[in-house]
Amino acid sequence: MSRIAVVTGASSGIGKATAALLAEHGYQVIGTSRNPDTIPADARVAGVEYRALDLTDKASIDSFRTGLDRVDVLVNNAGESQAGPLTDLPDTAIDRLFQLNVLGPIALTRALLPGMRERGYGRVVMVGSMLASFPMPYRSSYAATKAALRNFATAARFEESPFGVWLTTVEPGQTNTGLWERRTRYLTENSVHTTDFTTFMEILDAKQTKGIAPEKVAALIRTAIEADRPRSLYAIGNNAPLMFTARRLLPRTIMERLIARTHGISR
Ligand SMILES: NC(=O)c1ccc[n+]([C@@H]2O[C@H](COP(=O)([O-])OP(=O)(O)OC[C@H]3O[C@@H](n4cnc5c(N)ncnc54)[C@H](OP(=O)(O)O)[C@@H]3O)[C@@H](O)[C@H]2O)c1
Repeated sequence: MSRIAVVTGASSGIGKATAALLAEHGYQVIGTSRNPDTIPADARVAGVEYRALDLTDKASIDSFRTGLDRVDVLVNNAGESQAGPLTDLPDTAIDRLFQLNVLGPIALTRALLPGMRERGYGRVVMVGSMLASFPMPYRSSYAATKAALRNFATAARFEESPFGVWLTTVEPGQTNTGLWERRTRYLTENSVHTTDFTTFMEILDAKQTKGIAPEKVAALIRTAIEADRPRSLYAIGNNAPLMFTARRLLPRTIMERLIARTHGISR
């Protein structure tokens, strides 16, 4: 019997590549989009069943989860990328980001965990971001959501792993999905941060176009799913092995300065 996998945000980027890879390897894949009907025919993956899910809408989450029978694998991939100085972010933008990147995926995870536990098998992959491990200026809200998602998983894996259910986090670095074009950005008029924010975003956007292919992240997500005992954290892109080693060896303040400097901010 093939495993049933739900991949949220399967209409593009990392979610689409993951849905395609899992379908290719024999999983029955349910991919989500806010508007599945609008996914162009050439962007659909053969073998993936598309269903509607808006993680900012509690009714949509309820309706999606009640329509699910068995789920063996959940890939919490859908997300929004957001940038802006902390003081310039509107409350509504922060609320939406936490709903989409944290509260929605956690509601879905909580709904599916008991069934996985009863069946003695489950895999939940949080698609985080290396920004959670290496926070950068002007990405406070986004880094905070990804750190929150990772910590839900890291803590709960101790609760669920005795039942064969493993929660894990995959942190991609810059991935070339076109996400930078969809990133929401906030800067108030005459903000004191205008110069640094503008420089930072130009460098960030340029780096993202040179990011790794989403298929590489999808391959790591599959590795995490298929491990007997998935690790709590996987990372790929942005020289991940070097970055995590440097973080262990260097004082935190030096690491923070290095990251800011590589994005045009020197203080
Ligand atoms: N690209 C990167 O450099 C990078 C780096 C680190 C981490 N990540 C993370 O990786 C994940 C995927 O990123 P990506 O670059 O592949 O992004 P993407 O191409 O923009 O895909 C985002 C997906 O999220 C879905 N989505 C957006 N709003 C939603 C909502 N309100 N409810 C449910 N689904 C929604 C979109 O589907 P519809 O529009 O069809 O609804 C889309 O399929 C995100 O969590 C992102 O934070 C990306």
